[in-house]
Amino acid sequence: MNILVTGGAGYIGSHTVVELLNYNYNVVVVDNFSNSSPIVLDRIREISKKDFKFYEVDLTNKEDLEIVFKENEIDAIIHFAALKAVGESVKKPLDYYYNNILSTLYLFDLMRKYSVCKFVFSSSATVYGQPKKCPIVEDFPLSVTNPYGRSKLIIEDILRDMCFAYSSLDVAILRYFNPIGAHKSGLIGEEPDGIPNNIMPYITKVAVGKLPVLNIFGDDYDTLDGTGIRDYIHVLDLARGHVKALKKLEENPGLVTYNLGTGHGYSVLQLVNAFSRASGKKIPYTITDRRAGDVAVCYADPSKAEKELGWKANYGIDEMCQDSWRWQSKNPDGYRETAKG
Ligand code: NAD
Ligand code: WQD
Repeated sequence: MNILVTGGAGYIGSHTVVELLNYNYNVVVVDNFSNSSPIVLDRIREISKKDFKFYEVDLTNKEDLEIVFKENEIDAIIHFAALKAVGESVKKPLDYYYNNILSTLYLFDLMRKYSVCKFVFSSSATVYGQPKKCPIVEDFPLSVTNPYGRSKLIIEDILRDMCFAYSSLDVAILRYFNPIGAHKSGLIGEEPDGIPNNIMPYITKVAVGKLPVLNIFGDDYDTLDGTGIRDYIHVLDLARGHVKALKKLEENPGLVTYNLGTGHGYSVLQLVNAFSRASGKKIPYTITDRRAGDVAVCYADPSKAEKELGWKANYGIDEMCQDSWRWQSKNPDGYRETAKG
């Protein structure tokens, strides 16, 4: 089977490409490196000892994108490519709508034109907005508070409309909770541009001495220690979830939607402590004001994915922290330095 992976040089995409190659899928990656490095591609080949096709294409360029469809008989698409920084999306909404929505519409047009009927979409727990309670089940009401989240919800809505209109389509919407961790080799991992927005890359940058102190956004939430609770999930578990989703699509289910989370919530302080245990590094922190838009508690009910995909998260918080640290300590400057040893 030929799988087109958009955004395959990115954090979750690169781990998923490795997993797909392990399962002997033929992989075609498209990326414009707007938030990734070409070095990732060699690292994927080094880990998997397999090759794949790559196109440096911006998905908002429909002519270039069409070449990928012309030259490859694509059977299914896993669509990771997107801009993903919540704060930036508030400041530059049009960038997010152009990049995330226009590119996806082009992809949908080409899918129709080249009769590609299987599609896996990277959605996010962000589409649950401020959930009334936890754990979060897939049929909870959907709402969003920022342009990034809205771009995800709009694409979900378009997919629902398309599946209603075209009975030949099989679509898996995967709503990720909080991905952290890295490949066991320490060769690929998360490399945010500039100061990280997400907590784990921030912690690892403090641990490696690139940032002085972690700011914890509020300790007055109604949680066990006052800090926010999230469902952190290992990126390797997420990657495996995509292979399970592809297998599900072979059963022609139409539209299916799954939470990919562990079902366990950890507070910021619990995460910091787990990271210190895993790395042997003390993480200096200060408590600052709450971050606008943050929810107190967010964790998944992942039982639907377990029941219907036979997928459940295997890795616990300690291993997630160990693997994040291995990646960061072997690559203190991200992909700008070679990981050895
Ligand atoms: P990432 O930024 O590491 O990867 C995205 C990749 O897409 C990058 O390599 C980037 O260069 C590429 N890209 C972006 N726009 C493109 C375009 N127009 N044309 C071609 N390539 C383009 O992000 P990630 O963390 O791997 O996230 C992957 C997907 O998962 C995204 O859709 C994101 O919204 C979603 N998601 C991420 C998280 C998270 O916390 N990481 C959580 C939930 C959902
Ligand atoms: C986790 C916890 C913060 C940074 C975001 C997106 C979501 C999804 C995943 C894409 C919270 C606290 C954080 C810091 C902190 N992405 N924190 N200091 O906000 O749950 O989700 O990433 O789809 O859409 O909104 O993740 O890692 O930013 O925060 O104290 O420097 O860590 O307040 O409690 P979040 P996060």
